[in-house]
Amino acid sequence: MSGSAAIAHDPATRTWLLTTRATCYALRVAEHGVPLHVHWGGPLSLAQAVELPPSGVGPRSSFEGFGIGEELTVDGGNRYGPPALRVRFADGTRALTWQAAGHEQPDPATLLLHFTDSHYPLRTTLGYRVHAGTDVIERWTALTHTGTADEIVLVRADSATLSLPPRDDYRLSHAVGLWAAETQLKRDPLPFGETVLTSRTGTTSHQAQPWVILDAGDADGGWADETHGQVWSAALAWSGSWQLTLHHTPDNRLSLNAGAGHDAVTVALRPGETHTTPSLLTLHTPDGGFGGLSRAWHAHLRTAVLPHPEETRPVLYNSWEATGFSVTLENQSRLAAHAAALGVELFVMDDGWFGGRRDDHAGLGDWTPHPGAFPDGLRPLADEVHRLGMAFGLWVEPEMVNPDSELYRARPDWVLHFPHRDRTELRHQLVLNFARPDVAEWAHGWLTRLVAENDVDYLKWDMNRPFSEAGWPDEPSGRSDRLWFDHVRSYHSVLDRLRADHPRLRIEACSGGGGRVDPAVLARTDQVWISDNTDAADRLVIQHGYTQIYPARTMAAWVTDVPNQQTGRSIPLRFRFHSAMSGVLGLGGDLTRWQPAELKEAEQLIAEYKAVRHVIQHGELFRLRPPGDLQALSAVQYVTPDASESVVLAWLPQPRFGLPPAPLRLSGLPPESRYRDLRTGALHHARNLTERGLDLALPPTDWASTLVHLVRVQDPS
Ligand code: DGJ
Repeated sequence: MSGSAAIAHDPATRTWLLTTRATCYALRVAEHGVPLHVHWGGPLSLAQAVELPPSGVGPRSSFEGFGIGEELTVDGGNRYGPPALRVRFADGTRALTWQAAGHEQPDPATLLLHFTDSHYPLRTTLGYRVHAGTDVIERWTALTHTGTADEIVLVRADSATLSLPPRDDYRLSHAVGLWAAETQLKRDPLPFGETVLTSRTGTTSHQAQPWVILDAGDADGGWADETHGQVWSAALAWSGSWQLTLHHTPDNRLSLNAGAGHDAVTVALRPGETHTTPSLLTLHTPDGGFGGLSRAWHAHLRTAVLPHPEETRPVLYNSWEATGFSVTLENQSRLAAHAAALGVELFVMDDGWFGGRRDDHAGLGDWTPHPGAFPDGLRPLADEVHRLGMAFGLWVEPEMVNPDSELYRARPDWVLHFPHRDRTELRHQLVLNFARPDVAEWAHGWLTRLVAENDVDYLKWDMNRPFSEAGWPDEPSGRSDRLWFDHVRSYHSVLDRLRADHPRLRIEACSGGGGRVDPAVLARTDQVWISDNTDAADRLVIQHGYTQIYPARTMAAWVTDVPNQQTGRSIPLRFRFHSAMSGVLGLGGDLTRWQPAELKEAEQLIAEYKAVRHVIQHGELFRLRPPGDLQALSAVQYVTPDASESVVLAWLPQPRFGLPPAPLRLSGLPPESRYRDLRTGALHHARNLTERGLDLALPPTDWASTLVHLVRVQDPS
């Protein structure tokens, strides 16, 4: 038996054991070469892992195939479940066979298992990276054409297959959505058969999120809740189309295939080429329920993914809901002056500042300042914003073009298109083919100049439509399908290059709100515009779904005007602020029309947020009560890592019968400590706050909300 602490190996049984802080993952390469799943759960010694049988089951009759339990289910032999790897060789053969071809450990936390096919020139490498401190195990697959002739078509190439331990039943939690209604959490029994979650849009999508949360139960219970129980989860680090296939068999086995690309997308490998899938991040939490799982995801994203986890995100102003496309030097300067007076730290001018843009019909692609609105360019506005003491941000949409633009008139071949088919316009725009190196070069060129020449501190990178007619007729190798992957890789690499060119630049991810959020986006951006819906009550629901996986410090939210532009609902300013304060606070209303009393209240609430944002942005999140029912209290709580401070935000949209809600039981506080409620001055024993609860003293009016800041008091020793 050999290996480092994170990765151990028993050569006699070809068993591998991957160990994290609180979990273990075990697999075994069978004698005939197939990589088999053994364990994904609590801690095991290598000897214990060696004793365990593989988790798959063989066929019970001639009518059934192999059950679940391979590390990457392939097409071939008597396997009838959904394949994670399906190949087509030049002679029409589809089946793949496994032959072990050695392993490598390029570093103590990474394991590469190599396999060849018994006849065809395809090398498959299964990659495992152990993030021992956060319990995340990263999985991916690399496929190499090792021959000298012909193409090998990868009909499906997922990153990995995962298997859960056998239980009587399973439950699936995932997020569904629409534009302006993103990340709505759904939690339902997992149906038998195959359940496919997917995006075919070319982006991560508004409709579904590339992550799942699974819990399991049997006669003894075992189901998780917000605070207790075992949970398994996976999130795909990919910003284009994707597919997650859950396979739940009638003998209660569960596997999951996950990878980039949707059903119609293939990869054609030529001799010498390698296709490496994106990473699938997997996470098991042995206890702590859905809340514990979320905190584990947040910890991983904070420590291993986000570019500047140590920073505290500033209070932002965004012009979109106030001035729409009609931005000018004058109206932006007026808004900036108001924003600065309220304590805003970052002023972002949204859509409308460039080319012939005055509405959504024209201008995308022509990234020079609109001559009427900014006759002397952007510098006067940037300088004014800086003079007011704020950072300066700009909206861009680099992957898009309006047919009514200089760019499109010059380069109609730069957009995704099929010959003999109309080019479907959505929002009067077409998608530039970022897979083309010349398009990516052009985008990087104007973006980096824009930032340098105008002293831009912040970019909001938007993308306002999905792909259609996703063709590339003059792709030099005749393999236009690769645009589904290469567009996304180019989007990532332009972001990476911009960050490298301008180390102080910070970037907001946006795709018509939350249409492109995933771990790969979070690795390259600093915060996310998670929805165009700024209704404070709807936002609580969207934020609840978002924070299942992603941390609050990436979740941008604005306080906007009423009636709300999306819903027509009028919610008081204080509730709107409290809703937006649960992430990265921003403002998006027309401040020039706010009444003096509103401006005063806003100034106070911004100051209040600044006093607690280190807890919200760097603390651990406890979801105390879910949102949804307007007559019920909903609440979240944040606790600093050392538990010295905690913040509670609570909302009660429509109290029933004028009755106050029951005291709110808090979490995450060491029971023997005491906390002062800075709102009331009262001193509380933590045990009472967690067992009896905190009286919120909400007024018995509609749209009641509160923010409570608790600070630990050192008892005299
Ligand atoms: C969609 C974004 O989500 C909005 O915030 C805004 O930037 C518009 N696009 C601008 O066109």
